[in-house]
Amino acid sequence: MLRRRARLRTSSHAGAANRRRRGLPGASGKDLIHASRMEFRELARLNGGYVESRILHAAVTLELFDALDASGRTAEEITVALGTNLRATTLLLNALVAMRLVRKRGEHFLETDASRAFLTAASPTSYTAMVRFDAALWPVWERLAETVRSGEPARAPDMFQRTPEETALFVDAMASLVQARGDARVLADTLDLTNTRCLLDVGSGPGMYPVEFCRRHPHLRISIFDLPGTLEVTRRHLAETGLDDRISLVAGDYRRDALPGGFDVVFLSNIIHGEDEDTNRELMRKVYAALAPGGRVLIKDHVTDDSGTSPAAAAIFSIAMLLFARGRDYAYGEIRAWLLAAGFARVGVDVLPPGLISTLVTGYK
Ligand SMILES: C[S@@+](CC[C@H](N)C(=O)[O-])C[C@H]1O[C@@H](n2cnc3c(N)ncnc32)[C@H](O)[C@@H]1O
Repeated sequence: MLRRRARLRTSSHAGAANRRRRGLPGASGKDLIHASRMEFRELARLNGGYVESRILHAAVTLELFDALDASGRTAEEITVALGTNLRATTLLLNALVAMRLVRKRGEHFLETDASRAFLTAASPTSYTAMVRFDAALWPVWERLAETVRSGEPARAPDMFQRTPEETALFVDAMASLVQARGDARVLADTLDLTNTRCLLDVGSGPGMYPVEFCRRHPHLRISIFDLPGTLEVTRRHLAETGLDDRISLVAGDYRRDALPGGFDVVFLSNIIHGEDEDTNRELMRKVYAALAPGGRVLIKDHVTDDSGTSPAAAAIFSIAMLLFARGRDYAYGEIRAWLLAAGFARVGVDVLPPGLISTLVTGYK
């Protein structure tokens, strides 16, 4: 399926190039000038895109969106609420209006549907923790050229376990991404877990998937296996759900320790892209051992085509992994080979709804 998509894209590009060469409709001199202008605009946007990111990061850091409402507040009122400088705050608000994250009516600034849903702290789909995490990674991105020269990550690939504060920033960001994008809900809609009694979620982070799966399937029991530092944050997230009797926590390091055993399903979401090939190959063996006979592994991750360049989001995300992890996004063929080598059969792949930028790889013991 992924391969077929890649072929289609190649052939449509080739078609456009042929049309231009043969002077067919859509290939006039005027169009070419227009096309090159568009290319420059796109390049300029790529070059300056960080400015908009930094404006968003600053606004979330200042909790600006929490100071807005639907009826509107003046720049003076917002400045007093934030404890900031009036001229600077007015310019920031105007820029956010231009970025369509704030509305302006006369002298009043108002929230938008998106800012209320995703950029206020109290919203159930708040994305603010992810924005804060990305803002904190800014110094790491400054070292990208150096990383490409050396091949070494720009910070220790320790999954943000250095301090409890850093771990909380990371794990809360994972929770906020899943909440805002709806990954757990969409995946729970897609997966058939009717005959699954016990599931192991390896590297669950805040436990968003187990919570959603348990809510849909009252018979289901889930074990979460994660690093001890992460589990401190997981506990905080689970405490609010009332599901702690059906979700148990197991502290461990899958690079060093065996996984607990006897599960019908082992689920790994966004795990393999953080690890190198050897670790993933070994991890698949541990997953196989953790499954009961007939059990199923479910790997949810960004999966690239064989060229490693598509989907674009996956190719670009690999650079983040280069900077602060050991991994990258992998092609289905690579994941399939690890699973087959570990003993899995009936290995298959399903593309999930596009908003999730994820693919589901399945195999059976
Ligand atoms: C990118 S997060 C994914 C969280 C969640 N599965 C999701 O998709 O939102 C990676 C998770 O793997 C955990 N992890 C990373 N290395 C680990 C290891 N060696 N052993 C156990 N868990 C690990 C991290 O603590 C974190 O919770």
